[in-house]
Amino acid sequence: MLEKVKAIVQVANENRNSVTEIPTMLQPQEQMFLYLLAKDYYSEIGSIFDAGICLGGCTDCFAKGLNDRAGKLKNKDVVYSYELGIADDDYVTQFIYDNYKVRKKRGDSFIDIIENNISKMPQKKHIIFNQGDILEKTYPDPIEIMFLDVCKTQSINHKMQKLFANLIPGQSVLIQQDYFHSWHPYIHTTMGYLKDYFYPVGSVYYGSFVFLYKKSIPEDVLNIDPYDCFPVDAIDNFISEYFYLLDNKYRNHMEMARAFMYFEKKEYDKSLSIIESLKGRSELPWDFEYTCNYIKKNIK
Ligand SMILES: C[S@@+](CC[C@H](N)C(=O)[O-])C[C@H]1O[C@@H](n2cnc3c(N)ncnc32)[C@H](O)[C@@H]1O
Repeated sequence: MLEKVKAIVQVANENRNSVTEIPTMLQPQEQMFLYLLAKDYYSEIGSIFDAGICLGGCTDCFAKGLNDRAGKLKNKDVVYSYELGIADDDYVTQFIYDNYKVRKKRGDSFIDIIENNISKMPQKKHIIFNQGDILEKTYPDPIEIMFLDVCKTQSINHKMQKLFANLIPGQSVLIQQDYFHSWHPYIHTTMGYLKDYFYPVGSVYYGSFVFLYKKSIPEDVLNIDPYDCFPVDAIDNFISEYFYLLDNKYRNHMEMARAFMYFEKKEYDKSLSIIESLKGRSELPWDFEYTCNYIKKNIK
C-alpha cells in the first residue's frame, strides 16, 4: 500500500489544474490527491472522513473521484463531511466574500451555501454532511481515508488523535492539511509522538502531509495529549521527527512551528532565537513576517 500511496502523491504533485469548481482553499495538487484517493485507492472497507469542508471544495474532489471509479459503490454512507458552518474566523468570511460577494458577519451561518454546493455534487447520496462543532458529533468506524483540515485548536487535534483508533492498519491514509502551518505545533507533536504507528509518505504541495497507518495504537497511548504531557524538549523532538524528509522551504516552515511552540510554552528566548536563526535564509515560510510580529507583540 505504501508504494501505491507514494505513486498517487507523485501524480498529484504534478497536477496544475483545478479538480473542482466549488471554491476551495486547497491547491490543485491537493485537490487531485483527494480525487485520486477516492477513485483509485479507496476500497470501501471503511469510510472517508472529510473535516472541515468550508464551502465543500474538498468534498467535491472526493465526490468526483468516487464518480469516476469503475463500478458502483456498494456502501450507501461513504463520505462523512464535517463543518461548523459559522463564520467565526476572518479568513472564512473573506473567503465567502471573495467567492460569492456575500458579506457574512462573525457568527452568521453559511450552511445554506454548503448545502447548495453539496446538492450539485456527483454521488451526493453517498455524502453525509454533519453540520456544527465536530467535537460534538458522531464518527464513522472504520475510517479508511481521514482528511483533516479542521485541527485549528489543540482540543480538536486531540479529539482527532483519539479517533485514530478507527483507522485500519495497513490501509488507512491520513492527510494532515495543516502540516505546513506554523500555528498548530500540536499537530506535529501528535505525529512525532505516534511515529511508530504511521509511515510518513510525503507532502502534497506546500500544504498537506500524508501518512499511511501502520499498526494499531494502544488506547492508553491515544488518550495522552503529548502537547500537554511531555516536557518541552521532548515536544521539540516530536515536531522535528520528519525534518529529514523535508527540503529547505518546508523545513524552515517547521522551524517556525518550533518557534511558535516555544512561544506557547512561554520559553520566549528560545522562540526568539529560532526566529533570529531563520532570518536571512532563503525560502522563508509564507507567514514568516506575520508570525514573527505576532510572537513579538504577544510576548509577556
Ligand atoms: C481551512 S478551512 C477548510 C477548507 C476546506 N477543506 C476546503 O477544501 O476549502 C477549515 C474549516 O474548519 C472549520 N472548523 C473550524 N472549527 C470547527 C469545528 N469545531 N467543527 C467543525 N468545523 C470547524 C472552519 O469553519 C473552516 O471552514
